[in-house]
Amino acid sequence: MKNIAILCSGGDVSGMNPALKRFVEYAKEKQLTPFFIYDGYEGLIDNNIKEASYSDVSGIITRGGTKIGSARSKRFMLAEFRIIAKKNLDALEIDMLLVLGGDGTFEGLNIFYKEHKVQFCAIPSTIDNDINGTDYCLGVDTALNVIKTSLDAIRDTASSFSRAFVIETMGRDCGYLALVTHLTSGSELCLIPEIEYEFSSYTEKFKAQIKNGRRYFISIISEGIKQDAGEVAEWFERDVGIEARVIILGHVQRGGNPSVQDRLMAYEFVTNAIDALLRGEEKSVICHEAKGFNFKSIEEVTSKKKVLDVKLLSYL
Ligand code: F6P
Repeated sequence: MKNIAILCSGGDVSGMNPALKRFVEYAKEKQLTPFFIYDGYEGLIDNNIKEASYSDVSGIITRGGTKIGSARSKRFMLAEFRIIAKKNLDALEIDMLLVLGGDGTFEGLNIFYKEHKVQFCAIPSTIDNDINGTDYCLGVDTALNVIKTSLDAIRDTASSFSRAFVIETMGRDCGYLALVTHLTSGSELCLIPEIEYEFSSYTEKFKAQIKNGRRYFISIISEGIKQDAGEVAEWFERDVGIEARVIILGHVQRGGNPSVQDRLMAYEFVTNAIDALLRGEEKSVICHEAKGFNFKSIEEVTSKKKVLDVKLLSYL
């Protein structure tokens, strides 16, 4: 039996627990012994590594966060601690790693591989959706749905008063969460780090809208923009002439019951990552790329019955 371990590092996401469940079940199906490394790279350094069983993952599919903990490890940036980490893996004869995390996690993993050649597969997991090479990172859909629920509630109160609401989403330097929220919530304003903006270009337009009967504004801003939410609210009050309120959604965006998409993505990411390790892939990141839109003739579409996705069927 070969030994395989999994760890979660960086910001937790809803989808990590479903991934842990699939990890234990699929590893066992493949005659591998699964291990959990607790608290990310910190647990790797502190030898907080334990064999995982079915009972460890029973009932966790509905829970956000990660049952095995996560951390942003400063010590793993130092070579001396990476040597200890490697010794801990060797002592347990673990030579395959599954790592869930974001870009900071992957940078550490890359260095660890260069020094110690531990075979790994990395699974993009961050609500920021900011990892190069993949269209989707685990946790994004649940985060967007948490934001959606909050925003729908905010709209109820916003529409009862004459006010502007400035709602800040997470995302670090990436405006993905704010942008998708804007496109799907009907908000009036979206400010993200990727796009230059001037308040003055909105002032007259918004004033005219108030004159024409608009009672309230919903604006979505990403945490990485140059102004903070308070400054955006001040601009609404001072220049547009409407009372404003600020809502920083914060860490609520990282929690919650994992969505169907994140459960399915967790299942597929883990299954394919373990298969890749067993095939001998040494140091890969499993990426998911969406195909986008294309056009087909009406004859082609209506000429055949839709069949179930063969890839999904193969998991049965
Ligand atoms: O990377 C995920 C993320 O939630 C970012 O959107 C946010 O800027 C950051 O982590 C917050 O980090 P922490 O939980 O360490 O405060």
